Amino acid sequence: MSKAHFGLIGLGVMGENLVLNAERNGFSSVVYNRTYSKTEEFLNGRGAGKQISGARDLKDFVNKLDRPRRILMMIKAGSAIDSVIESISPYLEVGDLLIDGGNSEFRDTERRVLELERKSFGFIGMGISGGSKGALEGPSMMPGGTKTSYEAIESLVCKMSAQVEDGPCVTYIGPGGSGHFVKTVHNGIEYAIEQILAEAYDLMKRICGMSGDEIADVFRRWNATEQLSSYLVEITESCLRTKDCGGKEDLVEKIMDKAGQKGTGLWTVLSALELGAPVPTIYAALNARVMSSMKEQRILAQQIISGPSIKSFDLGKTDNDMSFLMDAVVLACFASYAQGMELLRIGSNEYNYKLNMPSIAQIWKGGCIIRSQLLGRIQNAYSACPELQNLLVDPWFSLEVNRRLPGLASVVAGGVASGIPLPCLTSTLDYINSYRTGRLPQNLVQAMRDCFGSHTYQRVDKEGIFHTNWID
Ligand code: 6PG
Repeated sequence: MSKAHFGLIGLGVMGENLVLNAERNGFSSVVYNRTYSKTEEFLNGRGAGKQISGARDLKDFVNKLDRPRRILMMIKAGSAIDSVIESISPYLEVGDLLIDGGNSEFRDTERRVLELERKSFGFIGMGISGGSKGALEGPSMMPGGTKTSYEAIESLVCKMSAQVEDGPCVTYIGPGGSGHFVKTVHNGIEYAIEQILAEAYDLMKRICGMSGDEIADVFRRWNATEQLSSYLVEITESCLRTKDCGGKEDLVEKIMDKAGQKGTGLWTVLSALELGAPVPTIYAALNARVMSSMKEQRILAQQIISGPSIKSFDLGKTDNDMSFLMDAVVLACFASYAQGMELLRIGSNEYNYKLNMPSIAQIWKGGCIIRSQLLGRIQNAYSACPELQNLLVDPWFSLEVNRRLPGLASVVAGGVASGIPLPCLTSTLDYINSYRTGRLPQNLVQAMRDCFGSHTYQRVDKEGIFHTNWID
């Protein structure tokens, strides 16, 4: 019997869909799952009649694969990955390749690449984005590891990934844990955009009293604009239109307002703090999820702390126009991408990943959760200026920022006056205002530090390091 081209470990919904994707693209496959009953169920169900076979144990699984073996693990990030690596390693041979397609912490991937390359096996840490539908139809893929290991999977991932006008949504990201680092930052941007859209919904609901369908109409209009056309805006419209049990009520209004998280947003913020990269919009989104989870406390506090009452204010130039709100949403989305890209640039220098910024924007144009028309502009901005320090000063983006900043400011001011929390919109306004201010008040912070701790300071009028006896 001829050997299979591709192996998959872990028949969760992502794993099932990825193996069906590989098989559809001409890669005969073999699957392994910790419980064989799950494998049987898959082979008799969605995997029936396809070039997919199953294995009861890892030895049999490895034996059924053509060399060099290409094995994708779609299992829970963390210790489960290490234990599968340990169990399968005795059966692997020089040149065989393991791919971790989950949301692993990039430093874990860094360590695994080193350990496995030492044994002459390849290891690829590959961020995969697109949810279960993307996994089946074509996700965005972010593989990192050695170039040689990448070359061994290039034909496979180029066929499996989403395709956009300028190629497949996959590229060699870089060495070590770079693939998972890029996926982590992708998820930070994902958290931010989700929160921004939720804040826009909240304003339309609470300031204008709009119904789910009316708000959905605004998202549909926004999805037809270059600035906001994106997967997340598209699905927001669908979420808002969905009714409860065939009834007349909006299902979103029945959902508990506590947002879950699996860790990648936190890792983005932790990396940013470590690297000294400013990501306030992304951090605000993470914090908003944390605050949302404190439901019982919030209900209690609502009865104790009284804020201003809701006052109507203009979300646009005319009723229903929502142009100011669109300005605010557009700039917050710009800021999310700008902060994510800046984090990638700083991380790339620190970890020596040599990330190709236009290519990363290119592979995010299709398949992934943050895909948007804007990524074409981001790709152009970094192609024109690979060392670009901040997207917001690119010529096209800066024109947009200048045009839309008054709208953002008026929406934040109106929200603040009504006591409505707008963490991402407010942080974005602060971020842009800080970034465009040539002289910030940190001169006084420096004076205080020098006053109590002799931490010294620099001057704007002459070179050198100074200390003053501030008291006496
Ligand atoms: C993707 C997503 C995905 C992520 C979920 C849940 O790109 O397909 O980022 O990988 O696991 O979106 O993330 P949270 O539970 O942390 O929101």
